[in-house]
Amino acid sequence: MASGAKEFNTHLSDEAATRAAAHALAPLLRPGDAIGLVGDLGAGKTYFVRALAEALGVPPGVRVTSPTFTLINEYPGGRLPLHHVDLYRLSDESELGELGLDEVVGGEGVVAVEWSERFPVLPSEHLAVTLSVAGPDKRDLVVTGRGRRGDDLAQAWTKSL
Ligand SMILES: Nc1ncnc2c1ncn2[C@@H]1O[C@H](COP(=O)(O)OP(=O)(O)OP(=O)(O)O)[C@@H](O)[C@H]1O
Ligand SMILES: [Mg+2]
Repeated sequence: MASGAKEFNTHLSDEAATRAAAHALAPLLRPGDAIGLVGDLGAGKTYFVRALAEALGVPPGVRVTSPTFTLINEYPGGRLPLHHVDLYRLSDESELGELGLDEVVGGEGVVAVEWSERFPVLPSEHLAVTLSVAGPDKRDLVVTGRGRRGDDLAQAWTKSL
């Protein structure tokens, strides 16, 4: 890879392993951190974000959905607010402006973006998380740090996996 980004691969044997991985990441997160989630339909991106919200201490059932756009949800009430973005249904880059992403990326909370590879929304420094289906409950996880902060996060996180 041109950037020299190191990849870390691991196997998640069941949902509990995915949840544990999200729980290991949560304490490392700081305001302004960004996570890109890549993977096919059903790979577990949303499952991972929900586990992250839980691990940040978001009370169960708390989700604030913007009335006009369900592409972005906020999970408040935890150690850091978590903004959950899903770009799957976004058809054109011109619609990005209406999403209000500028207000959450690099802000006081953490932003996690599903289908982040579809549009250039993430800051250059971020954590890239790729999930792929390896069996009914099995997933492969690839973690890549992008930029300085992404690298630091990737290293600290993957040490604990
Ligand atoms: N190890 C695992 N990790 C994550 N999810 C798992 C695992 N094993 C089974 N699952 C199941 O796989 C499904 C993953 O669905 P989820 O909505 O998280 O996928 P997604 O990647 O967000 O898909 P989409 O692109 O449609 O949003 C859930 O039903 C979850 O219970
Ligand atoms: Mg999803």
